[in-house]
Amino acid sequence: MNDLGTRARALAIVVTSAGFLLCGTANQFAQTAPRAIPVSLAPMGWSSWNSFSNTVDSQVIVDQAKAMVSTGMDKAGYKYINIDEGWWLGKRDEKGNIVVDPKAWPALAPGEHAGDMANIVRYIHGLGLKAGIYTDAGRDGCGTFSPDLGPGYPDEGSEGYYEQDFLQFAKWGFDYVKVDWCGGNKENLDPAVQYGEIARAIERAEAITGHRLYYSICNWGLQSPWTWAPNIGGVTADIWRTSGDIVDPIVANSKNAGRKATFKKVLSNFDQGIHPEAQHTGFYNDPDMMVIGMPGLSDAENRAHMSLWAVSGAPLLVGADLTKLSEATRATLTNREVLAIDQDALGLQAVKVSEQAGGLEVWSKRLSKSGERAVLLLNRMDSAGSVVLSPITVNWKDLGLAGASSSVHDPWMGKDMGVFDEHYTASVQRGDAVLLIVKGTDSRWTSILPATNSKTGQVKQAKGEQIFNFDSSPCDASVAAAQIVYRNPDASSRFAELRANERPPRGIAFPPTGKESGRVWIQIGLPTWVRVMFPGPTLPKGTERAKNNWTFSAVGGDAPKVESILLQLDKSCGASPVSAPRN
Ligand code: GLA
Repeated sequence: MNDLGTRARALAIVVTSAGFLLCGTANQFAQTAPRAIPVSLAPMGWSSWNSFSNTVDSQVIVDQAKAMVSTGMDKAGYKYINIDEGWWLGKRDEKGNIVVDPKAWPALAPGEHAGDMANIVRYIHGLGLKAGIYTDAGRDGCGTFSPDLGPGYPDEGSEGYYEQDFLQFAKWGFDYVKVDWCGGNKENLDPAVQYGEIARAIERAEAITGHRLYYSICNWGLQSPWTWAPNIGGVTADIWRTSGDIVDPIVANSKNAGRKATFKKVLSNFDQGIHPEAQHTGFYNDPDMMVIGMPGLSDAENRAHMSLWAVSGAPLLVGADLTKLSEATRATLTNREVLAIDQDALGLQAVKVSEQAGGLEVWSKRLSKSGERAVLLLNRMDSAGSVVLSPITVNWKDLGLAGASSSVHDPWMGKDMGVFDEHYTASVQRGDAVLLIVKGTDSRWTSILPATNSKTGQVKQAKGEQIFNFDSSPCDASVAAAQIVYRNPDASSRFAELRANERPPRGIAFPPTGKESGRVWIQIGLPTWVRVMFPGPTLPKGTERAKNNWTFSAVGGDAPKVESILLQLDKSCGASPVSAPRN
């Protein structure tokens, strides 16, 4: 440790989990707790694809929008009515404007004319809901190649018309646009390039109309969108699909009415949707529209599906026909406590914290209240030969909780299970899950300050870059939570890319903080290599610390001023800095 390291150590500040009160030896750093800055939450709504395929039209949308309100789903938070594929059959006028079938999209109120998509948007907005639309990044769309109920039409995509189409969507008044990849895929286009261009077209449309268009990328996880989609084109919030469809559409009274959803595919989409390092500050992995309430799943499987999406912090887009929801399905979709897990203000995703033999897993999602975790005990056993009930144990230390005792609550039963020391065990049915809210005591947070120049003592900052160096103890968990304390005096988000050690760079949004500092949360892997190389309780001398180097660089404008990083002194989380910042 050189001189500056010693100086930096003297400046180290520790944050208590309860009040985030900073204390330490350096007065210039003494301050009150920076406030948590709200981030955009994952969207909630309904999409036409799963239950209507390409038979969607104005009547379908009117009926579903009405049902969203009459079932009370809107009051529970479901707002988007998303029109998926089939609304447009690829026709344009001589100026390239999209032309829709006036019979499918008639006037809905006096003064309106048929064939104007603004009609249905007005109707949806009139019910206090939001409206979503759909296109493809390529020249053709999915309906061109695999039209499901058909027939297929060419030219159902927006390639060559990005600026025109996205401006049109915003002018019609849509609030949300899903952009599929069938055409782009067929043409072998690069998704990062195409979706980047579309992001810019969306920004332009927003600037012209003053109307926000939420951006939903749907390229089924091809070329790892979680590495390039967060913050693509500098949009403030977006979602990206991480896998294929859970089920092909099941349309009542049609040739595909007999299709069934399976819980196995629900689980597989859940697995493919877990990229906790990409999900933060308003960016979300999207494991697909939910199939809750559709043919194939039991009520118990519907609840497990909901639990999986809730701990994923996933977008909650219902695929079932809202006019036909059973009471059990409605109750599953609107459980207040489960929705609160999905919509928690931190916007983070669960990580797997332990796994017992045979597919008995414990997942933990950090919640915004200090010491609170949503915990999922998941029994993946599905073979007929395996036992029906298996005990699954969650240990408080695996959740990064420091105190011995924690309380346990079951949100599905709405029941407090009691206060337990060290751990809690539940019997979980094969192919089912138990969801819990655990309230305990967070371990302390340690503040890492920016690296400083050894001669001047000034914070090192080159070309909008902010550098943090620190040591950490290696441990078993692959992902640790970190809070970033920063300032952004602008009226809108600033963006920065974080390069943390050797990990792929990630885009992070920094919403406005006003004049004060604020903090946002991310999850990130810290070095675990020492344990891998030297398993066992004692590490060879000199290998007990891993060096970390994190650099934030501005993206597309001014950088946020990153003031410190808060990491938890928690043995199990991989985030155990053993020294203050070094230079
Ligand atoms: C793809 C998407 C689906 C749906 C269909 C429409 O399969 O993944 O969600 O939009 O296209 O054809």
